Amino acid sequence: MDFKIPKHIAIIMDGNGRWAQEKGKSRIYGHYKGAEVVEPITLKCKDLGVSYITLFAFSTENWKRPQEEIDILFKLFKEYLIQKEESIMKNSVNMRFIGRRDRIPKELSDMMSYMEQKTSHNNGITLTIAVDYGGTDDLTRAINKLIELGKTNITEKDIKGFLDTSFLPEVDLLIRTSNEKRISNFMLWDLAYSEFFFCEKYWPDFTPEDLENIIEEFSKRDRRFGAIVV
Ligand code: IPE
Ligand code: IPE
Ligand code: MG
Repeated sequence: MDFKIPKHIAIIMDGNGRWAQEKGKSRIYGHYKGAEVVEPITLKCKDLGVSYITLFAFSTENWKRPQEEIDILFKLFKEYLIQKEESIMKNSVNMRFIGRRDRIPKELSDMMSYMEQKTSHNNGITLTIAVDYGGTDDLTRAINKLIELGKTNITEKDIKGFLDTSFLPEVDLLIRTSNEKRISNFMLWDLAYSEFFFCEKYWPDFTPEDLENIIEEFSKRDRRFGAIVV
């Protein structure tokens, strides 16, 4: 495939609940099915030579959901990490997490730290999961850290350096499933010049082939970054 391959793809994995409800199943079933899509999509990215994939799993606004759904989601995240540890190591996936660590269950944040440490030398692809993440929250925390350090004349590099996403390059390609056309407070800073793709399918139906088609479309787009390209 001679497409231009994006270095960093971010995905808003949306539509699990509606996918399940349309099948007469519980929203939770949709979340379990959605989790199954993460591995094939990550491995497809790796095969295509994408260096970074970042997935939105739980937003700072998702606390507005019923407590039961929240609890099951956190349980699912932890179970998923335990279940996939072997495959993550086998495929040399470097796992990272962005988002607040002070409000999620301790057994989940412990598991996240464990996976980050365990996979820190893996260099196949960097898979970042956003949990209790909000773009506005990330920026606010970064600015407060700069204030605490007594920084003045703050530069863009300073801000980026204190974001949870400091280790990530800017996002080249943002995909959102389920046909919703909004960012929902994902990575505001890093999406400044991303190409956006909205897919009609719900996340549990999203396939590696859909991803490949979107990358083909991406490679046809003319990214000007504000300049005049002749
Ligand atoms: C995305 O699916 C997963 C999370 C936000 C946790 P949703 O749960 O938002 O599913 P819909 O959008 O209600 O169908
Ligand atoms: C965005 O989806 C967050 C995640 C995919 C984790 P939501 O379903 O929470 O977003 P809204 O409510 O449609 O904006
Ligand atoms: Mg949704």
